[in-house]
Amino acid sequence: MPTAPADLPRVLVTATVAEEVLERLRRHARVVALPPEPLQTPEDLARYDDVQAWVTHHGQPVDEARLAALPTLRVVANVAVGHDNVDLDAASRREVAVCNTPGVLDAAVATLAIGMVIALLRGIVGGDRFVRSGQWQRDAFPYTTDVHGKTLGILGMGRIGGRIARVAGALDMRVLYSNRRPNPQAEEHGLATYVDREALFRDSDVVVLTVPLTDETRGSVGAAELAAMKPTAHLVNVARGAVVDEPALVEALRSGSIAGAALDVMATEPLPADNPLCAMDQVLLLPHVGSATVETRRAMADLAVDNVLAVLAGREPAARVLPAP
Ligand code: GLV
Repeated sequence: MPTAPADLPRVLVTATVAEEVLERLRRHARVVALPPEPLQTPEDLARYDDVQAWVTHHGQPVDEARLAALPTLRVVANVAVGHDNVDLDAASRREVAVCNTPGVLDAAVATLAIGMVIALLRGIVGGDRFVRSGQWQRDAFPYTTDVHGKTLGILGMGRIGGRIARVAGALDMRVLYSNRRPNPQAEEHGLATYVDREALFRDSDVVVLTVPLTDETRGSVGAAELAAMKPTAHLVNVARGAVVDEPALVEALRSGSIAGAALDVMATEPLPADNPLCAMDQVLLLPHVGSATVETRRAMADLAVDNVLAVLAGREPAARVLPAP
């Protein structure tokens, strides 16, 4: 690897980024690439106090103390569309740009969400356990539930929600959505129908959460929303675990007030194996992998690096999170 000239800006990378993408960055910067775990403390970061850019991920807090440890920082580039790990006010006070990777992950996340819907209704994971355990030799696998003809409710109709609606439509599902405001694009061609939150939880057979985690959405799917759902209904979360009041979800699953859930995200990640959700057969759990395919993560890393290079060159990055500094 050629030695980077000392006058190139220094860039800290604590996200998993494909080697080819790092190589591209190395042509423009002195790169310090660290593994994503363990998370960097402010004291750790103080060792890199001349970095101008930080390529990070949604699991790494970027708070006041960490920003203070990096006084020359100009840009935080999350390799994620979500940016709830970043204290935007602190970044804005310090005039640090915050970038994310929207768009390039929509298809991967939507595909997984639909996969989770199908897996829940058709018992795909339970069927696998049934065969492997030898139970098939003694019993018949119970009938499952049709996907077509069911109502899918999407909470949060952004790009990922829109993509989920399209695929669900192709599966002959009826699609409802609730959002801060109606999204005319989602309604085009009768893809999805806007309803209020109450109707979404009440009328859907499967509710899929795609809302970002904000002060407003934190814990916003709680006991009342879960109680409003049909006892045959399922909850799918591909957004952020903290959007759901997890103790209320565990209670709703225990009491049978909803039939099941599929969660790619949890309030605590990685989820400890003694979490009550792990003991529930009606729950499908995934390790936060909505966008975790080789191709999509490569595209996200490319976009994050483009964002960094743009800010360092004084250009507008392709994806800057507001409020912009
Ligand atoms: C992943 O969770 C993301 O926000 O991209």
